[in-house]
Amino acid sequence: MSIEIPPGLTELLQGYTVEVLRQRPPDLLEFAVQYFTCLREKRLQDGVVADAALHRPHTRVVNFDGEPMQTDSNGEEDEDDDDSDFEPPVINRYSRRVSVCAEAFNPDEEDEDTEPRVVHPKTDEQRCRLQEACKDILLFKNLDQEQLSQVLDAMFERRVQPQEHVIDQGDDGDNFYVVERGLYDIFVARDGQSRCVGAYDNHGSFGELALMYNTPRAATIAATTEGALWGLDRVTFRRIILKNNAKKRKMFEAFVECVPVLKSLEVSERMKLVDVLGERIYKDGDRIIGQGDKADCFYIVESGEVKIMMKSKTKTGQEGNQEVELTRCKRGQYFGELALVTNKPRAASAYAVDNVKCLVMDVQAFERLLGPCMDIMKRNITHYEEQLVSLFGSSMDLRDPGK
Ligand code: CMP
Ligand code: CMP
Repeated sequence: MSIEIPPGLTELLQGYTVEVLRQRPPDLLEFAVQYFTCLREKRLQDGVVADAALHRPHTRVVNFDGEPMQTDSNGEEDEDDDDSDFEPPVINRYSRRVSVCAEAFNPDEEDEDTEPRVVHPKTDEQRCRLQEACKDILLFKNLDQEQLSQVLDAMFERRVQPQEHVIDQGDDGDNFYVVERGLYDIFVARDGQSRCVGAYDNHGSFGELALMYNTPRAATIAATTEGALWGLDRVTFRRIILKNNAKKRKMFEAFVECVPVLKSLEVSERMKLVDVLGERIYKDGDRIIGQGDKADCFYIVESGEVKIMMKSKTKTGQEGNQEVELTRCKRGQYFGELALVTNKPRAASAYAVDNVKCLVMDVQAFERLLGPCMDIMKRNITHYEEQLVSLFGSSMDLRDPGK
């Protein structure tokens, strides 16, 4: 008896098998339901996009809530958008993921120009606010001009109310968010207990993990004030940011391997670290950190030299105006950890000597990823204190808040 294999069956099952081997899900049946549901959704969505592309020179994908969500395959802005009565488009409920989708991502294979681009038209005023909110976002730091403008075009505004949950732990990832304003608490539930592990205070970004690693949301983000966010959809995020992460891995992997303080991290932890790092460049004399400032980043010197200076103390312990050099940090050395560990303002200032490149990590990534390096960093604080005693003659407790 000969059995005819229906066309497409082999490819369908092969695709599923490859994803199982790649992701090793604990429940194969549940994973199969998610995988095939996702595949069907993608086919439906592709149908809508293809249909729209056939009928319009400027491809406009109509979202299912009735608002036009504009895409432009030439990467040009729509000339006819009317700024005065513009309403930000509602997020397409069909683009919200219902499951952890087994999307494979191979940055070398991904072809940017075959994908329709998402464009949310913006007024000049919105664009200014968006640019200001995104100027320090580390994940955007290594993007080239074209990639950055595609990301900015695709972002949409979202207003939030106090107590609103922007993200719930365990959900699937739909968007990445940049904070324009507002306060947001971060809660992580473990062993049935939810704990506030940090907060965003009028800047920063969140929601990248689920999109990068195809995992459920790792934390709940709840607004504690009224606020404004800029969202970036999952597809654009993966297409541009993941591609850029692959480039970052190639650039920084070898360097990060050799940074002494990161030696206690596993290889996979170091890779996650590279994914969230951004590169900042400074000119001779630039102030990288200001003594007394609020802290939000951790730095590793990639090239050049950084001078750490502290305002001198008078005999009564008051701060003088004169700055004294404490130390210099060279390639592979770190600074800016103290304020993050002690939750205090910056203890000293840091200045670029010649041209300097630093790898930078935000406080949330620092807390999440550098736990295994904390012992080394804490031991180093004792050295700082000893150094200050020898410089200023009086002892200084760098760890004790409020002193
Ligand atoms: P994601 O998992 O997509 O959604 C929740 C987000 O919270 C997560 O991405 C991070 O961007 C952010 N976050 C901030 N601090 C933490 C933390 N300690 N653990 C997990 N996620 C965190
Ligand atoms: P932070 O306080 O965040 O910002 C200034 C940084 O200078 C500090 O972290 C340390 O990384 C670095 N530093 C180097 N030497 C000293 C020192 N003796 N005392 C305090 N900070 C120092």
